[in-house]
Amino acid sequence: ETVEWEAASYDMGGHDTYMHKEISEQADAVDRVLRGRIDDRFNTVHLGGLNLDPREARGIRRVKILGCGTSYHAGMIGAGLIESLARIPADAEPASEFRYRNPVVDPDTLYIAVSQSGETYDVLAAVQELKRKGARVLGVVNVVGSAIAREADGGVYVHAGPEVCVVSTKCFTNTVVAFALLAVHLGRIRDLSVTDGKRIIEGLRKLPAQIQEILETEEDIKKLAAEYAEAKSMMFIGRVRGYPVALEASLKLKEISYIHAEAYPASELKHGPLALIEPAMPTVAIVPDDDLLEKNRAALEEIKARSGRILAVAHREQEKADHTILVPKNEDELDPILMGIPLQLLAYHTALALGRDIDKPRNLAKSVTVE
Ligand code: G6P
Repeated sequence: ETVEWEAASYDMGGHDTYMHKEISEQADAVDRVLRGRIDDRFNTVHLGGLNLDPREARGIRRVKILGCGTSYHAGMIGAGLIESLARIPADAEPASEFRYRNPVVDPDTLYIAVSQSGETYDVLAAVQELKRKGARVLGVVNVVGSAIAREADGGVYVHAGPEVCVVSTKCFTNTVVAFALLAVHLGRIRDLSVTDGKRIIEGLRKLPAQIQEILETEEDIKKLAAEYAEAKSMMFIGRVRGYPVALEASLKLKEISYIHAEAYPASELKHGPLALIEPAMPTVAIVPDDDLLEKNRAALEEIKARSGRILAVAHREQEKADHTILVPKNEDELDPILMGIPLQLLAYHTALALGRDIDKPRNLAKSVTVE
């Protein structure tokens, strides 16, 4: 499979930055990753390049996902999707950490390397080490024909199109959607019911319109960014599915605005970071309408009790929060895909308000192809 990206797709197309262009393209990008892959007859997903027959898919005992930076965060959400939909124990780890700890390589584990560029050295080296030890490695990659795509035994192309801005936005979203497709595919070979397969597929089909809906609230998010741009430091919290969303949102803010930010699982607040909470340290909280809603609300109360300012990303207005960014509800499993998008815009407008060089943040490179 070879796909040439046209020169026209590198045009800024009326946007001031590539980052803004790429954020704005996400509805189309998600449409692309879904196209041609859904099978309504069996309520499943077909992935042409997987090279994994159903018998092999049934034999997988564990999934280990490897990536760096934003791709690692997408892999964390991916692991959650595989675990909840395919009921295979799954986790994600930074590729470099994995590589340096002489990992036990298990023949029943499916390894998945995640990379936008397909060229990140730490990920490539992990893939090569795994292959040398006889493991099966799939790639979830954006750039067709890249080093990691070639080295892997098979995989899923993310089809986000060219991403020029150093920090990743549309590719993150598409990577998570690619993992949802893989999770449905594996799940439907294993124990995911027809009803649940159908439920997730219907949820996936709603994503492009819901993403567009979020993008249309940009002006409101811009106003919020103006308020929070004064912060020296920000806390991001989430729980289970919301935690990687918090991690990625805090990374995005650091990368382009240079505001210090850290992300914690909401439940860990009381084990230390609560000491930091004061009016000068705002918290961004991921608060989906799911079975953890009451737990998340309790965390907001703890923060309010210490006079912390709160910006919630939620499906309904949160009284404890100073501001709530509302996002459309999807299936619980797919909520993380949507909840990250307003926070890309928040990071963007914060960086813009601070006059940063958004497409080329200091000290960072689009792909790190050396050790
Ligand atoms: C660099 C970029 C990040 C990116 C990471 C992994 O650090 O600045 O934005 O997430 O590499 O890149 P990859 O191409 O492997 O996804």
